[in-house]
Amino acid sequence: MSALRLLGISAIMLVITMAAVDRFSLLYREISRSCNFYIEALAIVGAWYTVRKCVSLAFDTYSMLRLHVIPRLGGEVDLVKQYGKWAVVTGSTDGIGKAYAEELAKRGLNIILVSRNKEKLEAVSRSISETYKVETDFIVADFSKGREPYPAIKEALKDREIGILVNNVGMFNAYPDYFTNLSEDVLWDMIHINIASANMMTHIVLPGMVKKKKGAIVNVSSAFCCQPTPLLTIYGASKSYVDYFSRALHYEYASKGIFVQSLTPSAIATKMVAFNSFTAKRSVFVPSAEEYASHAVSTLGLSKRTTGYWKHAIEFTLAESLPEWIWARISLYISRIVRKQALTSK
Ligand SMILES: NC(=O)c1ccc[n+]([C@@H]2O[C@H](COP(=O)([O-])OP(=O)(O)OC[C@H]3O[C@@H](n4cnc5c(N)ncnc54)[C@H](OP(=O)(O)O)[C@@H]3O)[C@@H](O)[C@H]2O)c1
Repeated sequence: MSALRLLGISAIMLVITMAAVDRFSLLYREISRSCNFYIEALAIVGAWYTVRKCVSLAFDTYSMLRLHVIPRLGGEVDLVKQYGKWAVVTGSTDGIGKAYAEELAKRGLNIILVSRNKEKLEAVSRSISETYKVETDFIVADFSKGREPYPAIKEALKDREIGILVNNVGMFNAYPDYFTNLSEDVLWDMIHINIASANMMTHIVLPGMVKKKKGAIVNVSSAFCCQPTPLLTIYGASKSYVDYFSRALHYEYASKGIFVQSLTPSAIATKMVAFNSFTAKRSVFVPSAEEYASHAVSTLGLSKRTTGYWKHAIEFTLAESLPEWIWARISLYISRIVRKQALTSK
């Protein structure tokens, strides 16, 4: 009897075990099937991401070559034929503006310089006309004076067929500083010089270009337009304005034959950034104004928004791809060091 019960219990245990094993193997099959599904889904996402990255890398490389290499290998574009005989450059007695004016003169354009210092204007004007055998002229104007300089500029440019306008004039903070430490004068100057000058000069020159159905406007913004940069808040904000203004204006007037370019360079060794030991001198990523201008001019007509210089393009791409909070922390850290250096060397 007890042997029979034992047999019965064993049989029941066997059936239960077999059922459990069966259930377990079913569950295992289901889990591995759903795992396969997730692995396949992940593989598809990974492949899509890789393809996208490869396509964008190929596209970026092509744009970089098209913009910064091919124009320098092939023959130069005839800027006079493409846009017109005269170019106006603001802030052109020093730095980028002077170098850009010289580069345009080298390509045969007559130059009108606009800056605030008459003696410097006379000297640069003479030097350009003698060196490059082009006509030159100048207008004395202080862009920090609000609406004051524009009637005279308008009058002086009345009968000139302007092909290229370079809105280069700009001011920088004396050194990176907290917003409340800046004087009211600095706040107004930044608006008048960095923002209003580009608006007003364009407003004066653009109608003539539209009439001729050709012309180019180059607005010098800055790499600081790409991410919020603490302690350089109003400078960066003014350059974001210039960048936005250029890009929107390009779409507005491209169909009328006008090419508007936003230049967004990083550091260039000029007197504007001489307070900083990193940018005071020319180095691997900090070109001289002449070197920069020669690259930047060759991008005219090819890109509506560019750093103008291939090494800056690498920096810009990296800066743009950083999350905003990382960029802000890094730039705050660097700006504080530069501020401290500037204050101690005072
Ligand atoms: N240097 C950089 O690292 C860098 C980087 C990105 C963007 N940028 C931008 O590039 C542009 C040129 O900068 P830069 O480094 O060549 O500057 P810069 O060496 O200081 O030269 C500025 C030029 O503008 C003139 N100017 C200054 N204030 C003026 C005013 N109120 N009215 C009329 N003219 C005035 C100056 O005349 P004076 O000779 O009389 O002073 C000089 O000719 C600016 O818009 C700047 O924001 C510069």
